[in-house]
Amino acid sequence: MGNVDSNLETARLLRPYERPLIRNAWYCAAWSHEVGEDFLTRRILDMPVLLYRTSSGEAVALLDICPHKLAPMHQGSRVGDNIVCGYHGLEFDCSGACVSNPQGNREIPQAARLRSFPLLEKWGVLWIWTGDPARADPAKIIDCSHFESPQWRTVKGGHYVRSNYMLLVENLLDLGHALFLHKQTGGLGDNLVLSDHRIEQGEDTLRDLRLYRDTQPPATVFGKYVPRGVRLDFNADMLWVAPSMLRSHNGCSESGHARDGSGLSLYGTHLLTPETQHSMHYFYGTSRNYALDDPEIDEAYRRFQRDALHKEDSMVAESIDAVLADTMDLGVRMVTLSTDASGIRVNRMLDRMAEADR
Ligand code: FES
Ligand SMILES: [Fe+2]
Repeated sequence: MGNVDSNLETARLLRPYERPLIRNAWYCAAWSHEVGEDFLTRRILDMPVLLYRTSSGEAVALLDICPHKLAPMHQGSRVGDNIVCGYHGLEFDCSGACVSNPQGNREIPQAARLRSFPLLEKWGVLWIWTGDPARADPAKIIDCSHFESPQWRTVKGGHYVRSNYMLLVENLLDLGHALFLHKQTGGLGDNLVLSDHRIEQGEDTLRDLRLYRDTQPPATVFGKYVPRGVRLDFNADMLWVAPSMLRSHNGCSESGHARDGSGLSLYGTHLLTPETQHSMHYFYGTSRNYALDDPEIDEAYRRFQRDALHKEDSMVAESIDAVLADTMDLGVRMVTLSTDASGIRVNRMLDRMAEADR
C-alpha cells in the first residue's frame, strides 16, 4: 500500500525544544486585518517585534528595542511614518534608520538602527522572515491563494498555545489522533479503510496522501452536503511546508476522480509561529469550495476550530509540553508507531535546517 515504510527504525528524536528555532524561514506574523496604523507588538521566535502600517498602507516589522538604552519602541509614538522612542526621542524611519537625535550634539551614531524584518503581505497574511534578509525567498511560503479566491469561503481563527510548536506540527501530521481525540468533535470515524497511503518528500516540503476509495465520506467533514448513499472517493491529505506551515485537504469526488477538483473540498490551513520554545501563535483558516453562502456551515467550522483545534489539540500539546522537562529527567524515551513516519521525516528535515541556520 503506497510507499510508506511500516518497518520504521526507532529513531532517537531530538526533544522539540532541544532544537533551536529555525530563523531562516517565513512565519505568519499576523493576519492583515490585525495591523493598522497603531502599533501591534508580538513576540516572534523570541524576539519582540513591532508591527504597524505607514500612511500609504504598507506594513512594516521592526525590532521593538531602541538601540540607545533598550526602551521598548512601542512605548514611543508615531510622527508621520516614523517612530520616536519615548525615552530620549531618537526618531527612526520605517526602514529602521535613525533620522533624528534631539539630544546633545545631535549626531546620529552609525549603530543607531532598528532591525527591520522582511515582511510580505499576501493572501490576507503578513509573512515575516526572521533570518538573513538576503535569503528571504517568497516562493518558500505555503500557497494560501484560496484565502482570497471567490471559489472558496474561509473561516479564519487563531489562538495562543503554551507549547513548543512542534507538538502541533506532529499532531497535524498524524491525523490518526482524530479517531480518539476528536471522536465527538470532527473525527473521521473508524469505518474508513485506507486504500492508498503515500508520502512525497521535497526539499523542504512533505505530502502525506491518504486515499479511501469507493466509500461513504464521513459526515463530520462535509456536514449535510456530503452526498448520502453514494459511493465516493475520499482523500485526507496533509501538506507541510518548512518549518511550520501546513494545509490539510479533505475531498470527496466521484470514484476515480480523487483530487481533480471536481468534488467537495475542504482545506485546513495551519500557520504555527513560535513565540518562544514553549509557546506559539496559532493561526488557522478552514476553507471550502461548496456552500459558500451558508452561515450554518460557517458556524459549524467555527465550532470545530473552537472545540477540536483550540480545546482538544492545543490542550494535549500544552499538557505534553508541561511534562517535557520531567521526561528528560526521568529518562523516558518516545517510541514510534508506523503512523509517525511523516513526523519523523519532518523532524529530520528541521534538524538539517537548524544546522544550516548556525
Ligand atoms: S532609549 Fe530610546 S532614545 Fe534613549
Ligand atoms: Fe487534531
